[in-house]
Amino acid sequence: MIEQGENGFRLTTEHTSYWFEVTKFGHLEHLYYGPRVNAQSPEGVRLKRTAYIGSSIAYDPSDEMYCPDQMCLEWSDNGRGDFRRLPMELKMPDGSYVTDFTYQGAEILSGCAPMESLPTAYGQDAETLKITLKDTSSEIYITLFYTVFEKCDVITRRMVLENRTDPESPNPPISLRRISSMMLDIPNRNFELRTFSGGWSRETHMHRQTLMSGIFENSSTTGGSSNRHNAGFLLGEGSASEQNGLVYGFNLIYSGNHCGTVELTPHDLIRVTLGINPHCFEWNLAAGEKFETPEAVMTCSNRGYNGVSHQFHDFINEHIIRGDWKKKERPVLFNNWEGCFFDFDRKKLMGLAKDAKELGAELFVLDDGWFGARNSDKAGLGDYNVNPKKFPKGLKAFADEIRAMGMEFGLWFEPEMVNEDSDLFRAHPEYAVRVPEKKPVLGRNQLVLDLCRKEVQDYIIENVGAVLDEAGISYVKWDMNRHIAEGYSPILTNQGEFYHRYMLGLYRVFREIFEPRPHILVETCSSGGNRFDLGMLCYSQQIWASDDTDPVERLAIQGGLSYLYPISAVGAHVSMAPHQQTLRNTPLSTRFNVSCFGCLGYELDLKYLTPKEKEEIQAQIQFYKAHRRLFQYGVFSRTEHAREGKILWQCVSPDRAQAIVGFFQGVQHAVEGYDHITVTGLEPNGIYRIETKAQYLYINRFGGLMKHVLPVELNPDGLIIRTANRHFTLQDCVEVYEADGAMLEAGILLNNQFVGSYYNTQTRLLGDFGSSLYVVEKTEK
Ligand code: DGJ
Repeated sequence: MIEQGENGFRLTTEHTSYWFEVTKFGHLEHLYYGPRVNAQSPEGVRLKRTAYIGSSIAYDPSDEMYCPDQMCLEWSDNGRGDFRRLPMELKMPDGSYVTDFTYQGAEILSGCAPMESLPTAYGQDAETLKITLKDTSSEIYITLFYTVFEKCDVITRRMVLENRTDPESPNPPISLRRISSMMLDIPNRNFELRTFSGGWSRETHMHRQTLMSGIFENSSTTGGSSNRHNAGFLLGEGSASEQNGLVYGFNLIYSGNHCGTVELTPHDLIRVTLGINPHCFEWNLAAGEKFETPEAVMTCSNRGYNGVSHQFHDFINEHIIRGDWKKKERPVLFNNWEGCFFDFDRKKLMGLAKDAKELGAELFVLDDGWFGARNSDKAGLGDYNVNPKKFPKGLKAFADEIRAMGMEFGLWFEPEMVNEDSDLFRAHPEYAVRVPEKKPVLGRNQLVLDLCRKEVQDYIIENVGAVLDEAGISYVKWDMNRHIAEGYSPILTNQGEFYHRYMLGLYRVFREIFEPRPHILVETCSSGGNRFDLGMLCYSQQIWASDDTDPVERLAIQGGLSYLYPISAVGAHVSMAPHQQTLRNTPLSTRFNVSCFGCLGYELDLKYLTPKEKEEIQAQIQFYKAHRRLFQYGVFSRTEHAREGKILWQCVSPDRAQAIVGFFQGVQHAVEGYDHITVTGLEPNGIYRIETKAQYLYINRFGGLMKHVLPVELNPDGLIIRTANRHFTLQDCVEVYEADGAMLEAGILLNNQFVGSYYNTQTRLLGDFGSSLYVVEKTEK
């Protein structure tokens, strides 16, 4: 709800309030953002100005207490006495950097206010407040947009800068050097900052820090939102936990260079800004032109970090994800990449597809290497002709064969890139990004296509579209495997526009390809999770989280992502062990148990699986299909009550009748203590049945200890054991309990873990990196 009072504005969501007002000098003073309050007077929450703080600048001689630097503001100007990080740096028509924007008027619109150039959140049930500010001495205007998504407790913000100077006047264009989508000033509460950073194969690890005096910047300069620093971040009261305490969340609907700053001032105020990164950014705005910033997303909860995550998840599922796959269950896919890399042909793939189908896969995804001279990562990118050696009858014939088996067919593309060894590069070297007099720098042997150019955008739109239609593709993996290093396009007179224009070009490409084909499920990817952001989620319903599919690593990666993004948006696959990136050997059960808290896929060479492993995978896929709505669209929470080194995740169905809990062990210690599982969010008086999901316990897990487990002594490396291991498994410990929701919240104590060399079915045999799932169902009683 948006209310406009005599001087002020009140934005109200189900559980939060956001208040600000127009001051006597026409500035917007921020009053409050936090848990919902209903009082009429804002005096209780207003930041007081009853003492003059030495060396401050007063805005007007009539009021020495009115010092912008000591105020909470909605927007602030350079050169008026605010010395914090400013949301904008603008070279004005008079050549100065001094601006003074004051209030002109407001309008309340029903729904969202979409932009033409950039993706925005959408939804009929939203409301938008539009506030116009004007510079006191020029015809430069700012419009601030606040869109309220009441049910999700989200408010988005963006701004538009307009140069309304008379085009006939001799004034030069104004030059924009920094432009944020939002800023927020709030008093400090011993805030802890949580950011989600990493690199290739170690994306979105959570980093925590207590704020220190100064400015912390969370940004990317790679041309994408990057695997280095995800654009989303959180600010939690010092005492906030997963379940309790005040937490603010911020994110940006943008896939390019972003910049978030959190400043702690000497007088204990916090300023948050978020928007396009000013790195190599400069935008000239001629008379009559305007600049739209990406939309920033804010949320706030006094129900801890999980509270903020739930709100982000609901918002993304409801107001960001588009197309026929919105809220739809994602298929279990098989992807050939990790099993084959570039070494495949039709025959090999048909073998894999047959096995994948038998295991229960619903979608077969053909990854990199199907086109041009793409037999390694040194050639072929940019070309779209199907490799006739690999597919003698063409791609459509192959796709038809897959469909005839009863699976959908999906295809990998990397349309933003070109290899020098490609037909495209030979014909159009000018399509590649490079600075004319300098040697270009390569990443994975490839150059970036110049998406600032319309003819390059059109080349991609036509070629990708033609392949999609010809082969009847129903899933696309859209990859992008290098950072953009040199931002230059010969078609631009101002190179400061390169990075943003690249994104505008990319978004147009996505719109043109996928808006007419809403039936296609799109999974974007960038060397794993190098572009996991809300801009991508406006065009792709899921994103490949990381090339690292080791489940132990994935606990950190998917755990980090879960703070900001819903499970239904996270691609998670079971792959080989020992693992490609870590050489770690993990149980097949754990690889599944982690991946099922995501959009499940399998990505390994199936021909080496033993009959028992195949059976286990079949059972996993059946289990997932039976529970996937709960995994993908249930309420996901992280539980912090696990013992040290253990992790507990849970998904609860919206009707609170079902839940699944994942218990993840980490490294096993001798004589482990007493584990328990908790489930929050169930009906306190409801009666539930809790049962361990039975897992496969492979005989060879015991090595030489087998003589204590089996009635006869056998060579642990001998043929008999090796053969037995292919066909037999031991019974896993399955526990069954009945408890009410209150007891589940308090915690159910589990059976002991393995402490010696013997085996019995009452002992939880987890070992290093073991894990279990617990299924919780409400009973009729
Ligand atoms: C990087 C992706 O993250 C992988 O999954 C795979 O698609 C390769 N690219 C293919 O080149």
